[in-house]
Amino acid sequence: MEIVKKGNIIIEDLEFRKYLSEEKIKHRIIRLAQKIDADFIGKKPLFITVLNGSFIFCSDLVRALNMDVEIEFLKVKSYEGLESSGEIKESINTLPNIEGRDLIIVEDIVDKGNTINHLHQALSKLNPASITVVSLLYKPAAYLFDINIDYVGFEIPNDFVVGYGLDYNGYGRSYRDLYVLDNENMH
Ligand code: IMP
Ligand code: MG
Repeated sequence: MEIVKKGNIIIEDLEFRKYLSEEKIKHRIIRLAQKIDADFIGKKPLFITVLNGSFIFCSDLVRALNMDVEIEFLKVKSYEGLESSGEIKESINTLPNIEGRDLIIVEDIVDKGNTINHLHQALSKLNPASITVVSLLYKPAAYLFDINIDYVGFEIPNDFVVGYGLDYNGYGRSYRDLYVLDNENMH
């Protein structure tokens, strides 16, 4: 029988341990929302949420804001298993006209930065007034690009995490807390 450490979760072949609690994440998102509210007074930003991973973060973030916002979703994929593939697939032609708009890209996590860099470039070509990036998680040690991540929930080490919208091979998104790969308990 498999022995799993208390509080740990197993997804496929990997064991993860609790890393950030739901409460801690909620509190941090409230602070981010207050900052965004203050910085965007008098503006009408268009939130562009990067699917799949950011759907939970986005829903908590926009409900913590004090302004009414427009939200669009873009499906972008670069990860296969535990590794960023570098090859990005997106669906930018599904967006409405963004010319002259203040865009806020909502990411669950910025890792190497391939996704955000690609998206930033593609959206810039459509002449928005501004592009701001908000990411719940950011791995500075992995990041390879210059684009500023304007609002960061948590800077984290270069470890693989799941839960709160983030997945491993499609699973683990619905855990309310965030979990990190527990290398001591490989299966
Ligand atoms: P990047 O393009 O390398 O920055 O990777 C960004 C995308 O890869 C994110 O939007 C996530 O979907 C996924 N990703 C990066 N790191 C992790 C992780 O630790 N766990 C789960 N997904 C991740
Ligand atoms: Mg993502």
